[in-house]
Amino acid sequence: MRMAEGQIKEVLISKEEIARRVRELAQQITSDYAGKDLVLVCILKGATIFWSDLSRQIDLPLVSDFVAVSSYGDKTTSSGVVKFRLDLSQGIEGRDVLIIEDIVDTGRTLACLKENLLTQRPASLRICALLDKPSRREVEVFIDYIGFTVPNAFVVGYGLDFGQRYRNLPYIAVLATPTG
Ligand code: IMP
Ligand code: MG
Repeated sequence: MRMAEGQIKEVLISKEEIARRVRELAQQITSDYAGKDLVLVCILKGATIFWSDLSRQIDLPLVSDFVAVSSYGDKTTSSGVVKFRLDLSQGIEGRDVLIIEDIVDTGRTLACLKENLLTQRPASLRICALLDKPSRREVEVFIDYIGFTVPNAFVVGYGLDFGQRYRNLPYIAVLATPTG
């Protein structure tokens, strides 16, 4: 992609690999949630592209909802403070909730969101993350569905940004410029 020339150090996961893995995850979710009252909770903004591709391949009636949480601003390291900026538009009590996230880094965002959603008494609450960066974990959080495990590098593309840029790259890449 021309816009990213010179800015990308390395493509970590190609668009074909992502497509294949998203298809596998969707098949797994379709079989695991057959007959359930599935609610996908997409975390804005990074998970939107993953949610968009994944949800369209889940062959079940489902509801999609969105939450916005942020702990980063334009920096590449967590502030440790997770802020809720947009809440669910429907109740989730008694429903089977699957959180859709782009990447699990320190784990703080998901630990905090999970705790918050559990107070609403869903029938079940699981997590599906496209990327897992376990080397950076500070808070333990179990991820039920993982797309790929990535090394300790700041990655962009397929929804993930650096200062709101690069979300539209069709692959997952490491930036050329030091960003931390
Ligand atoms: P955590 O709370 O530290 O797990 O942070 C998770 C959030 O930080 C993700 O939803 C991303 O928005 C952001 N994040 C963490 N690592 C990266 C990265 O390598 N690239 C882009 N965003 C990241
Ligand atoms: Mg995010």
